Amino acid sequence: MDDGLRTRFAAHFGGVPDGTGTGFGRVNIIGDHTDYNDGFVMPCILSHRTEVAIRARPDRLLNGLSGAFGQAEAQMDAATKGHWLAYAAGALAVTAEIGVPQVGIDLLVDSTVPEGAGVSSSAALGVALVRGLCAAFSIPAPPAQTVARLAQRIENDFIGLQCGIMDHMVSATGKARSAMHLDCRDLSYNLHSLPAGHVFLVIHSGSGRKLSEGIYNERVAECRAAAEAMGVASLRDAEAAQIADIDDKLVRQRAQHVLSENDRVNAAAQALASADVVTLGALITASHQSLATDYEVSSAPLDMLVKTTLSAGALGSRLTGAGFGGCIVCLAAADLADDIVAAAQEAVPGSWLLDSIAC
Ligand code: GLA
Repeated sequence: MDDGLRTRFAAHFGGVPDGTGTGFGRVNIIGDHTDYNDGFVMPCILSHRTEVAIRARPDRLLNGLSGAFGQAEAQMDAATKGHWLAYAAGALAVTAEIGVPQVGIDLLVDSTVPEGAGVSSSAALGVALVRGLCAAFSIPAPPAQTVARLAQRIENDFIGLQCGIMDHMVSATGKARSAMHLDCRDLSYNLHSLPAGHVFLVIHSGSGRKLSEGIYNERVAECRAAAEAMGVASLRDAEAAQIADIDDKLVRQRAQHVLSENDRVNAAAQALASADVVTLGALITASHQSLATDYEVSSAPLDMLVKTTLSAGALGSRLTGAGFGGCIVCLAAADLADDIVAAAQEAVPGSWLLDSIAC
């Protein structure tokens, strides 16, 4: 157990926690808005992580302290959507099926994953909570896939975000400096090493995004409409030629993005396997174009960051995550990294380097 976490728990709650858990933030190298369509993604964990320390209570109170959200208390059944303790209530509820008793908890949350940056702070919290509850109640650690599925249900059923499984899977698997080529339908994956001599720079635009604001769920609904119009169970099952069967222009565009993005992810995995950074970079930039024009989830600062980083020598650059603000990720030769970050900061005041990942 992290000594700092134990000390902070003792300072606030007195005594020691019964268990702790960790979840990682992530950057998605390529493959956005494909996971909830049973498609392919390629995320990688960040060095930023969320840790929780948990102790069982004799009542039904959730007694929480979070560095980001402060101190709060709520009865288990009263921690509703919009309150950060809803994550704790949701985590308790979903882990009932693996044997976690439905009692109140003292909960310390310590996180270095920035909120609203599009780097999965909520998935990191969900994964940390599921793991922490298992540890606190001496439940044998479930496989990463089970942890991920449970953490996803916290968000789907208790927060109201119809997100896919990508963030929870990579957060729960937690293999540093590896790109995870993940099939979101059956959760099988291959890990690829990152290209030698190169870095993935994660640059925050300075503008946050709020996923639960509705546009995300709107896109999920548009994808369902697209699948229905093509007569397939999910966009994963559609062929490009079927897109013409969709009458609605916007819905057609959404399908176009998802189908082409799946192809780009699979091509990117091949490019990584053969250390072909030029092809990988081109796929990354093409992903941004598709997200900006067909999927319409970019923003002016994100577009500006992509343009600037490419002009400064990046091999590929794109928004990462849900979009609507947050971060870009760009692939660059390691010796150009400082110049690229400086150019980005000059073009978009308030932008900053959130992480830099190398092999
Ligand atoms: C958010 C969601 C993910 C995924 C991305 C977009 O991060 O939590 O499930 O849909 O957006 O790729």
